[in-house]
Amino acid sequence: MFIENGGDLNTIIIYATKHGTVEKAVSLLKRNLKGNIIIANVNKHVPSLEIFDTVIIGGSIYYGKVQKELTQYMKKNSRLLLTKRLGLFLCAGHPNPQQRKIEMENAFPKEILEHALLTSSPT
Ligand SMILES: Cc1cc2nc3c(=O)[nH]c(=O)nc-3n(C[C@H](O)[C@H](O)[C@H](O)COP(=O)(O)O)c2cc1C
Repeated sequence: MFIENGGDLNTIIIYATKHGTVEKAVSLLKRNLKGNIIIANVNKHVPSLEIFDTVIIGGSIYYGKVQKELTQYMKKNSRLLLTKRLGLFLCAGHPNPQQRKIEMENAFPKEILEHALLTSSPT
């Protein structure tokens, strides 16, 4: 799985989806990123984070909440996640941008959100 690449960055995108939108977003993201990109569904096997420089985490919002498996994963791995270049995103459909900002704040643990280089929910 890991390719020795002479210096390119290794990125893992860890995601959760219910109806496939996040999965589509992840494919688009992968197409637009450089380096080695591994994709992992949080409900299946997520490889050890040691070899990755960059970790991108994304999920979707249902009734105000992100998938609990994603929350559990972030809590369990927070120490290691805080050593990585982090990107966070949500797929969400709430029409009010202020509400989507709140959803973003609630979906990710505070220290992870503060550590992230990039965060995004629909605008
Ligand atoms: C039953 C249901 C509840 C939803 N609740 C919310 C919500 O509370 N806030 C929000 O921003 N979007 C909400 N959405 C929109 C989804 O987050 C959005 O469609 C997302 O792209 C789904 O991603 P997925 O297909 O990867 O699961 C809801 C959608 C459905 C079908």
